[in-house]
Amino acid sequence: MGVATTGGDAPGMNAAIRGVVRIANSKGFEVLGFERGWEGLLSNRFRPLTSRSVGGILHLGGTILHTARCLEFKKDEEVRKAARTLELNNIDGLIVIGGDGSFRGARDLGKKTGTSIIGIPSSIDNDVFGTDETIGFDSAVNTAVGEIDKIRDTAISLERIFIVEVMGRTRGFLALTVGITVGAEIILLPEVKYENEEIFRTFKEIKEKGKKSGIIVAAEGIVDTHQLAVELEKATESEVRLSVLGYTQRGGNPSARSRLLASLFADEAVELLSRGEGGRVVGLQNGKITSISIEQSCKTEKPLELNLLNLARRLAA
Ligand code: F6P
Repeated sequence: MGVATTGGDAPGMNAAIRGVVRIANSKGFEVLGFERGWEGLLSNRFRPLTSRSVGGILHLGGTILHTARCLEFKKDEEVRKAARTLELNNIDGLIVIGGDGSFRGARDLGKKTGTSIIGIPSSIDNDVFGTDETIGFDSAVNTAVGEIDKIRDTAISLERIFIVEVMGRTRGFLALTVGITVGAEIILLPEVKYENEEIFRTFKEIKEKGKKSGIIVAAEGIVDTHQLAVELEKATESEVRLSVLGYTQRGGNPSARSRLLASLFADEAVELLSRGEGGRVVGLQNGKITSISIEQSCKTEKPLELNLLNLARRLAA
């Protein structure tokens, strides 16, 4: 079997590699770990992984196999090259640990090779259709919540409003979950259009109710948060500060939940491959480990429960 981590890293990828290798070994399969995601398949760069060589990595963030955003992999010729690498190394099954972009690559590769391919969803964005949760999401949520709790202390002390930028440029799963769990007064998501006036009005109302500080959780890239801070300060006559959490959310030790999910997904992925099944993405649905076709996962946008925004509003009243 082959295994690779592709796209943005997420806490728990190492736990997934460990799970894949140990479960595959226990079923008699040898495992090659391709390095730097698709790049390893293009350059035939790999290292054999054994149950011993994946010891001591369960609790580590990042990925021992390294990863990369490989834009070349959208080209047909490159995908063919990766297919040749699989053939050259007699790979019967390939496990791709990554997010939705990685699975589009895996789907394309699957059309050009006889090797069975299984996707293990791992992304702090939680935006993979076919699973209620991706590996790393819970870890990133906990990292962000820990930091924002600290920001809340200083916001209350100095009676300030903070805009906190979290990751998730295109989807708001992280911002929404973090926003609710830190009690944010406003949550700005890529999926929802908003007007500055609405934000100003909310904070004026909050002030009238006697609240002197507040937190806005904003998904990165959807708004010029520097500009918003300046305008909000003018409109509310409160001091406003900006804090960008950035890449801290992608690193750090995986939470217990991310490790558990990684181990369960690894088990299911190897089981599917050992039965000769490919073209699937494993996932958690209503508390059960299952899988759906990679095609279905790639073509379907995972819905975000926007009614949770109403809950957030009521909770932050
Ligand atoms: O891995 C997902 C993600 O962290 C998004 O939340 C973020 O928008 C993007 O990756 C950042 O990408 P890059 O690592 O290429 O800067």
